[in-house]
Amino acid sequence: MCGIVGYVGPRDCTDVLVSALTKLEYRGYDSAGIAVFENGRIEVAKSKGRLTDLVAKMEREGKPQGHAGIGHTRWATHGEPSDVNSHPHSGRRVTIVHNGIIENYKALKQFLIDNERTEFLSDTDTEVVAQLLDFYYDGNPVKAIRRVLHEVRGSFALGIVFADRPETVYAVRCESPLIVGQGVGEAFIASDVPAIIKYTKDYYLLEYGEIAVLKNGSVTFCDLHGRMVEKELKTADWDEDSAEKGGYPHFMIKEIHEQPTAVKTTITPRIENGMPDLSECGITPETLKKVNNVFIVACGTAMHAGMVGKYIIEKYARVSVTVDIASEFRYRDPLIGEGDLVIIISQSGETADSKAVLNLVKGTAAKTLAIVNVKGSSIAREADMVIYTHAGPEIAVASTKAYMVQLAVIYLLAFEMAYAKGKIDEGKCQRLTAELMRIPDVIKETIEKTVDQCQYISTKLITADSLLYIGRGLDYALSMEGSLKLKEISYIHSESYAAGELKHGTISLVEEGMPVIAVATQNRLLEKTVSNIKEVKARGAMTIVICDEEADIDPDAADYLIRIPKRYEVLMPMVATVPMQLLAYYTSVNKGNDVDKPRNLAKSVTVE
Ligand code: AGP
Repeated sequence: MCGIVGYVGPRDCTDVLVSALTKLEYRGYDSAGIAVFENGRIEVAKSKGRLTDLVAKMEREGKPQGHAGIGHTRWATHGEPSDVNSHPHSGRRVTIVHNGIIENYKALKQFLIDNERTEFLSDTDTEVVAQLLDFYYDGNPVKAIRRVLHEVRGSFALGIVFADRPETVYAVRCESPLIVGQGVGEAFIASDVPAIIKYTKDYYLLEYGEIAVLKNGSVTFCDLHGRMVEKELKTADWDEDSAEKGGYPHFMIKEIHEQPTAVKTTITPRIENGMPDLSECGITPETLKKVNNVFIVACGTAMHAGMVGKYIIEKYARVSVTVDIASEFRYRDPLIGEGDLVIIISQSGETADSKAVLNLVKGTAAKTLAIVNVKGSSIAREADMVIYTHAGPEIAVASTKAYMVQLAVIYLLAFEMAYAKGKIDEGKCQRLTAELMRIPDVIKETIEKTVDQCQYISTKLITADSLLYIGRGLDYALSMEGSLKLKEISYIHSESYAAGELKHGTISLVEEGMPVIAVATQNRLLEKTVSNIKEVKARGAMTIVICDEEADIDPDAADYLIRIPKRYEVLMPMVATVPMQLLAYYTSVNKGNDVDKPRNLAKSVTVE
């Protein structure tokens, strides 16, 4: 995924573009560039590396001076990170920035070469689009854009400037998100609201195929057929601070600390008289009563939330739950139909693999429910029902508070479905819901109790070549998330494994000093989990055990015991995930990694 920005107005355009791009670097950061109108000409500055490298390059070589232009920060898909592959890309009279992927770029490139357009400088799909726009441009920018939209296949958003249309920025959206900010006498385009919130909270959401024209600080819109479009002006519901670090060294640690508030903000409006009430999301007891099977489909951390959800929904609602990785689900010809509920979990609401599942399910009798954090995102808007989590903007690439609120929503959904189906009575449902309402304070207490210990233990992990995360039942589901957190930001390999399955092969990996992190919060499985811990310890593992403050753990079994507050076993995932987040965070910090923008990753993967 990449970040696109654009500006038209009285300010120094380069400063605005750079400032906006710093808020989008979480979307991709292997190169950056801008194109600005200066004295009627388009001046381009771009470079491989972080945005700071681009700024340094402009300080050395001079920065474009103007009041209209476009900018980009890249997560490479076609063509390695390099100066020449950085955006913007140009034809003779057109310069563009692009987010997404052009699936038929090879055929289009061949078409251009067959028509004597052979001057390609880069390996990117983006340059093909710039050349194609130039090829069709006959002096009418919107006409050229519309023509190209009919020929290009893929999911993308574009920011465009035409050399003979100074002080004007064009934008178009086909799948990849793009907003148009409206300030006083100035207008913006951006891939996400944090980029412009410093300047304005008012924005338009571009729909599929819509084209925006920014000129003289105002905006006009037209659709794919060239018809003018009136659009609703929206207002972002959070401020710039919430998209800043707030005094923390990294967004990730800030977002870990925001979890109590995020959970409280998410569940409180969905609880009425002590009972779950999702009616604001279009979900009623009648809706839930009809559900015979649940499919939870997502990617990465969101899928791990689904794994926890499987145990909870099956335990209480007594409904079969299948959890799938989105990129697998869509190709396995799933058996879905009447009475099936497909739950898509996604923080960004823009993950291409997860979005593709929606399109697949649309052709069936199954219903779709999205659990999404970003308001107005594609998945949220295309699902039959949506439960928004209210975690606020999650900037760190490694998801923490979004995962926590996804769990919270799944618990509410499970309890309401169980009650609607008559599997639990009102009293039980109220007790479970009341326990869930206490969890934000328990999360806060757990952070305070374990932060120093996790910081210390992380110093024992930084030299590891590989780690194992083990657990049984809910603890196994939870260990998947712990493992991903660690490896994606520390770059140390780790693997989560069902504790009871180790002896069937994987235990051969265990050698002297290998860290094994065991999650042991499920008391009815504790004895067996402790046996598994002893098995690895007997083979030299360094064991780190996460358990509640009353768990009876043999001191010989654990090199390190991280004790957390004891709550209802079924809710322990929301407590035990905290030390695993902290272990991952401090291991990454101790390794000197860029915690918030780990290598090779992006916050939302809008390509397949
Ligand atoms: C989370 O730590 C990861 N960065 C990643 O796995 C993420 O959860 C996944 O890409 C799904 O993103 P989404 O929730 O925005 O769909």
